Amino acid sequence: MKRYTITAALPYTNGPIHIGHLSGVYIPADIYARYLRLCGREVIFICGSDEHGVAISIKASKETTTPKSIIDKYDKIIRKSFESFGISFDNYSRTSRQIHYDTASEFFQKLNSSKKFIEMTSDQLFDDTSKKFLADRFVTGTCPICSYKDAYGDQCEKCGSSLNAIDLGNPKSTLSGEKPILKKTKHWYLPLNKYEDFIRGWILDKHKEDWKTNVYGQVKSWIEEGLKPRAVTRDLNWGIPVPIKEAKGKVLYVWFDAPIGYISSTKEWALENKKNWEDYWKNDETELVHFIGKDNIVFHCIIFPSMLRAHGGYILPKNVPANEFLNLEGEKISTSKNWAVWIHEYLEDFPDKEDVMRYVLVANMPETKDSDFTWKDFQAKNNNELVAIYGNYVNRVIVLINKYYMGEVPTPEILTKEDEKTIKSIKLARDKIGLTIEKFRFRESNSEMINIARIGNKYLADNEPWKKIKNEPERTKTILFVSIQIVSALAYLSEPFLPFTSLKLKGILRINKQIKWNEILNNNIIKSGHQINGGSFLFEKIEDGEIHSQYQKLEKTKK
Ligand code: 2FM
Ligand code: ZN
Repeated sequence: MKRYTITAALPYTNGPIHIGHLSGVYIPADIYARYLRLCGREVIFICGSDEHGVAISIKASKETTTPKSIIDKYDKIIRKSFESFGISFDNYSRTSRQIHYDTASEFFQKLNSSKKFIEMTSDQLFDDTSKKFLADRFVTGTCPICSYKDAYGDQCEKCGSSLNAIDLGNPKSTLSGEKPILKKTKHWYLPLNKYEDFIRGWILDKHKEDWKTNVYGQVKSWIEEGLKPRAVTRDLNWGIPVPIKEAKGKVLYVWFDAPIGYISSTKEWALENKKNWEDYWKNDETELVHFIGKDNIVFHCIIFPSMLRAHGGYILPKNVPANEFLNLEGEKISTSKNWAVWIHEYLEDFPDKEDVMRYVLVANMPETKDSDFTWKDFQAKNNNELVAIYGNYVNRVIVLINKYYMGEVPTPEILTKEDEKTIKSIKLARDKIGLTIEKFRFRESNSEMINIARIGNKYLADNEPWKKIKNEPERTKTILFVSIQIVSALAYLSEPFLPFTSLKLKGILRINKQIKWNEILNNNIIKSGHQINGGSFLFEKIEDGEIHSQYQKLEKTKK
């Protein structure tokens, strides 16, 4: 059986998560993992908190506290947001745990002892006021590639390039605002230039067809520009100490240790579940898939694979289906400007509406280009699709079966050609949902899912069982028998997208058997004589007032 290692980018614990994180990374990854599990495949879905790096130190000084208290605070909030949204990680670890320190340190040592690094002493940016070397987010300046003025020392958020701080134009310390001076320091570099041919042969020659064009395109342009050696150590006081004597006082670069976090999180899970972690990372039969946002492409398609290659023995990702960015009401989501919908706040304002947000975020997922979230659209998708199509269909069928047969599923006559055709169209939808999920086209699969309820509604409208109950009681039974099969198929097929609704619906239907994805509806899911529960509304209308308060909340952040 095929085995899957699915990873979702480890979020930085320097703040809570917002809808952009969910729609770009965690919801698509969760749909993929849930779907594969339903197909009966062996899956581990791995994540954890990314707790090193300058972003954490900056947040700590802003809140005048320690990095440790920052990571503890946000790890808790983020963990809870994921849990509440039903993101079904098999393991959610932390890069501050011992198992990760050990794994990252061993990884570095292996590369060091096999002479994969270049050791170099060179001039680096230094803030003479705060007496600190300016790595990564401690320095901003002009991107040497696209001329964006506020690029960070290690990455330009505009063009996505991975940078070396020393190459920034007009560098400025984010600590003191001063222009840095140059000071010599020694670091360990991974000579990425030596891995160009490997990346070319692996991605550019082999994945033009099956990788997303945004991902392929970014990799292509970096390779065309030429790769440079990249420092994997830093002069910082927050991070994993470089595990060699001569590097006292230095730590690993956060982007060296973070992706190793996928491996240590897998190890942690394997220990708890008595499995062999190497099956998930070192076996050619395993498919490794990294879900990330577009700003992480270089790290997952060039740097981490080169690290894995340098180490040896590891598999490479089969795909890296990175998404673009989600905007909010036409503007870029910004943590610093508080222009975001924070997950923990959403859950306070809309308790029990996790699936509504999941649905809207998939429907607008920034799969091929940046997309936009608006509260008006959120309301419309809830009211016109979830309530009016999905909820309405389920409710009609449940109410009719309760009304006519006291909740006992009736015995059908022989199905008509039309009935058979309807069932067949649901099976086709099932297969199309599966196929599009496997191709990372989640918007399409989500709309195919809601289409099942549309087909169900049309079947009811065409057949009008309520008009036949008196004169054609047997036909009415058949129509409602077919209808309840469609409802139950919907309960299974919507699980990857709407896990809470699926569970609730299975409760109403009183069904809990496991059915493999490609067998759903091959046989009747519910038998005649089966007793279902009474109806309850799966979704409720969202009123203008609720949306209005969200707009007011956003307005306030603008002032
Ligand atoms: O961009 C980010 O939020 C990073 N913390 C992602 C890390 S992904 C990984 F490699 F761990
Ligand atoms: Zn740039």
